[in-house]
Order: sequence, then structure tokens, then C-alpha cells
Amino acid sequence: MNFWTRRKALDAIVSVEADRRLKPTLSWPHLLALGIGAIIGTGIYTLTGIGAERAGPAVILAFAACGVLCVFAALAYAEVATLIPAAGSAYTYAYAVLGEGLAWIVGWSLVLEYAVTCAAVAVGWSGYMVGLLQSVGVHLPPQILAGPHAGGIINLPAVLITVAVTALLAKGARESATLNIGLVVIKIVALAVFVGLTFTVIKAHNFTPFMPYGFAAHTEAGHPRGVMAAAAIVFFAFFGFDAVSTSAEEVKNPKRDLTIGIIGSMVICTAIYMLVAACAVGAWPYAEFARSSEPLAFILRGLGHPAAAFGIAAAAIIALPSVILVMMFGQTRVFFVMARDGLLPRGMGRLHPKSGAPVTLTLITGAVVAAVGGFLPLDQIAELSNAGTLLAFICVAVCLMVLRVRRPDLPRLFRCPAAWIVGPLAVVGCLYFMISLPSATLIRFVIWNIVGLVVYLAYSRRTSLLARGVDAPAVREASAIVD
Ligand code: ALA
Repeated sequence: MNFWTRRKALDAIVSVEADRRLKPTLSWPHLLALGIGAIIGTGIYTLTGIGAERAGPAVILAFAACGVLCVFAALAYAEVATLIPAAGSAYTYAYAVLGEGLAWIVGWSLVLEYAVTCAAVAVGWSGYMVGLLQSVGVHLPPQILAGPHAGGIINLPAVLITVAVTALLAKGARESATLNIGLVVIKIVALAVFVGLTFTVIKAHNFTPFMPYGFAAHTEAGHPRGVMAAAAIVFFAFFGFDAVSTSAEEVKNPKRDLTIGIIGSMVICTAIYMLVAACAVGAWPYAEFARSSEPLAFILRGLGHPAAAFGIAAAAIIALPSVILVMMFGQTRVFFVMARDGLLPRGMGRLHPKSGAPVTLTLITGAVVAAVGGFLPLDQIAELSNAGTLLAFICVAVCLMVLRVRRPDLPRLFRCPAAWIVGPLAVVGCLYFMISLPSATLIRFVIWNIVGLVVYLAYSRRTSLLARGVDAPAVREASAIVD
């Protein structure tokens, strides 16, 4: 079997050496909070305005389209993640099902979904923080508030929040996940207050014209327009539930915990987003809040609720770090498995003897996130994250279908309903979302993958443990699943 198509045996994945396994310390409340913690973030707090600018009141349809696509993707994730309850998410599934080459590409794309998303949220957090400081009379030098793209030197607040979250994660998963539950509560309460204050003042005329720019993504006077152009950006608000699957190796009861964690967090967040979007465009003319960098606070201020507006901003500052936390957790676990597989230097995957956390990898990930967040602009980062995430979703839907054909015998802890409708629709939907992204984003995405392929061909395909037959002993030991 050549290097591109060689596959990891499923049983080798689920039976790794004991000293290299992550400790099972999490259960479903942690996972539900991990999922919601990763989903609700910069997207709903900041991108609702950009979405409305691109689609008008029909941004509600954009949220609905994202919700449908993500429920399909979540169903695929739930079946595949419970079938292969090992760390590494889409990368690990691709390695077992599609071969090392595609697994590498997916792992490389997951860096966009996890690390680059952390950077985007860190930059968004920095914006809220700077705004809040200014509102109380603290003005920092502009050189330390933005990267060179905006005439500054470095976005220091983005770097500092990244360092803080990295330190927390390095202490171990359990502590981080427990703290995350509190932050999730804050985010949900803030959005509930927004819905409560806007719901009663919704006006029918704010919904007309409902779809001023049509459905398909297109460009008008240099700006992306249409429901799908909005969907392609607000998609950022939706992903994160899949980060739950990266912790599969650390959960006590994979069937119950992963199913509740992945599907539950997706359904809860879709419902919340639909409500928030409908209340936002119904309560205030979208053209007025579309360009705000804090649209929800802007609407509340306009409605005469300055204290609530301050509260929403404060909640964002307190709670957005939970997105960074969960996404960085996901990234370290993907890097961890790639190092364990030999595709990245194996020494990187060493676990801390006390906390059981991959500390070296956590520190490396933190440094990468700080560098991206410190120097690059938010919009480009967010759209690139979307492209990487869509590729990962496509991969998982394909794995779902290939496993149904190749291994119908395997007992499925969670069975995706109507898999032959859900799987193809997830793939086609993700492709449609992808081509709805601006072409500049797609070009950057292709360049990123070309760089990844060069690394793989020059280094990883030779250092791969599979290339040296090293996972063979684990194959012999395993008995539950045979590939
Ligand atoms: N869904 C996450 C957010 O909106 C990435 O911040």
C-alpha cells in the first residue's frame, strides 16, 4: 500500500499504549458545556451585523441554512465519533477510513478550524476589551492594539488573552472544562436578556424587504451579497460542536456522553441563534446595526437599555475566552494524535506525569495562536477558519458513508438516521457553502494546503509510524474491532 492510501487499523486507533493515552475524566455535562462553549462566541456577538449587511432581514435564513447543515454534520460526527472514540476528530477518522494523505490534509485544515479560530476570537475579544477600557477612560497606545495591517505593531490584548488560556489548559482538561461551564452560563444569560428585551418591540415593517439581495452569493459594488454570502460568514458562529469529538478518548461513557454533547449543543445553539437573529432584525432596522462591531449592544443602546448593552459587552469579554479554551483544547488534541502517529515530531506528544495533559503541545499551540492573533486581521482569519472547517465536515460525512459500506458489521453506538440522505446532503451543502466564500479566501485556503502537502511529502510521510509498521503490535492486541 503506498504512503498516500495507507490506513491506520481501527483497532490500532482505539488501543494505543497505556502511557500515551489521555485520562478519561469527562462526562456529558462537561461535553455539552464544551460544545456550547465552543459554538457561542464571536460569531453571534459580532458577525450578526455583517450577515445582515450581506442578506438583509433574510440573515435569519442564513442562520437557518447553517443550522440545517450543522445538524447534518453533527449527526455524521456523532456516528463516526462513537464508532472511533479516539482523540483527533476528523483527522483520526480520515486516517482510518480514507488513508494517510487525506488524513494529513484534514489535520492541516483542522489547524484552520481550531488554532486560527482561536486567533480570530482572541482578536474579537481584544476589540470588546479595548472598547470597554475606553468607555471608562483608559486609552492605550494604538501601536499595541492592532497588527501592521491596521497601522499598529501588535495586538497585545489578543496575545495576552491567548497566554492566559494557554496557561489554564496546560494545567489539565478537567479544571478547564469545569470553569468552562460557568462561562457558558454567562453567555446564555446575556443572549437571553437580549431576546427578552427585544422580543416585545419587534416590528413587522423591519422585515421588509425581506431578501433585498436575493439568495445566491454574488458581489455587488465590491461587497459580498445574498443569503448564501451571509451564510458563508455566519457559519463561523456555528461550528465548535465537533471540538467535543476531539475529546472522545477522555470521556467516561462515549455513547451517552458524545451523543448528548455533540447533538445537544448543536440543537440548543441553533435555536438560540434563530431567536437572536429574528429579534435583532425585527427590533431595529438592520441597515443601522449592520456595520457595528458590537451589533447586539448597539441595538440595546438604541432601544434605551444602556445598562443591558454594557452587560452584553461585559459578558462577551468574560465569556469569549471559553471559545478559545475549547478550540485550543481541540487543537492540542489533534496535534497530540498527529505527533503520536509520527506525522509530527513524536517528542511533542509527551504527557505531563501529573496532569496527563500534553503540555509541550499546548505551549506550542498557544504560541502559534498568539502569533496569528497578534499580527493578522479578523475578517480574513474568520473566513479562512470557515474553509478549513467545511473541509473537515466533508471528510466526516464521507467517512460515515464509506464505513457504512466497508464495515456494516461494526456495532454502532449511535446510528445516524437516514445516513444516505444526511451524508450526501452534508457533502453537497458544505461544497455549496465553500463556493459561497469570497474567492480571495479560497485562494488562501488552497495555498495553505499546498504548504501542508510540501511538509507532508518532505517530512511526515517518512516519519510516519505507520510507514515503519509500528502500530502492528496494537493491532494484534485488539480484539473488539478488526479492520
Ligand atoms: N462558533 C465560534 C464563535 O462564534 C467559533 O466564536
